[in-house]
Amino acid sequence: MEISGRHFFITGSGKRIGRRLAESFLEKGARLSAHVHTSKKEGDELFARFPGKVHLVQADLRKIPEIQAAVISAEKKWGPIDVLINCASPFYPTPFLNCTESEWDDLLGGNLKGQFFLCQAVAKNMKSGVILNLCDVNANTPMKNFSPYVSAKAGLLMLTKNLAFELAPQVRVNSISPGPVLLPEHYTPLQRQRTEERTLLKRLGSPEDIVAAAHFIIENDYLTGIDLKVDGGRSLAEK
Ligand SMILES: NC(=O)c1ccc[n+]([C@@H]2O[C@H](COP(=O)([O-])OP(=O)(O)OC[C@H]3O[C@@H](n4cnc5c(N)ncnc54)[C@H](OP(=O)(O)O)[C@@H]3O)[C@@H](O)[C@H]2O)c1
Repeated sequence: MEISGRHFFITGSGKRIGRRLAESFLEKGARLSAHVHTSKKEGDELFARFPGKVHLVQADLRKIPEIQAAVISAEKKWGPIDVLINCASPFYPTPFLNCTESEWDDLLGGNLKGQFFLCQAVAKNMKSGVILNLCDVNANTPMKNFSPYVSAKAGLLMLTKNLAFELAPQVRVNSISPGPVLLPEHYTPLQRQRTEERTLLKRLGSPEDIVAAAHFIIENDYLTGIDLKVDGGRSLAEK
């Protein structure tokens, strides 16, 4: 797929990996419906940096009416969506014995249910296009204290394959499973070192590694139903 002139909808466009994805496709001439939840200020900055190319949409992915309103607003602005990238994701520890129903609803809502209904809303008018879901290598390996998060990401991985099946041949659906790329801001130097040691390449990835993988998947028209691990060998390394 040629990127220039295409309508991208990227969730979590305000910060971190989503922000870099947004910038990279804008730099290649895409028109962007930039989704944010609380990062309105960062969204406004993106809007100002790429005049006439960014339409801001705000939605809490746990709320289906907000998702539907965001898609209607995006389609009204730029027409049907050509590429949906599901990048937004709540992420925090929830030790199993203390995990509450509201934490479960938050993590499953923001990591699986929201993506399901966003794909549905977008796919209704997507004549041909691409959906790309950001999963996690830990969707396939246990991660202590993160049961709801990894369960949701495992669901997203399966949803990716199922939608590749259901939406073919018009829409290609793929995922990227990052390993450690950008650590949570509160991580200590020791936690960082331990995380690096648990990869085969002994270092963190960078958002650019994810951006390159996203370009590869979106631009290669013969890819559907794949999950591309961008993890420095984390999934093969010892725990
Ligand atoms: N960073 C890594 O090393 C890594 C590793 C493995 C997998 N991943 C995956 O890669 C993707 C990007 O990672 P990241 O670290 O850049 O993500 P992140 O900073 O943890 O979160 C991205 C955005 O998710 C949005 N979000 C959270 N809850 C939401 C909700 N209920 N409704 C709507 N938006 C919500 C937030 O938007 P606002 O700021 O606008 O509120 C946030 O900026 C995620 O899917 C993540 O699971 C990342």
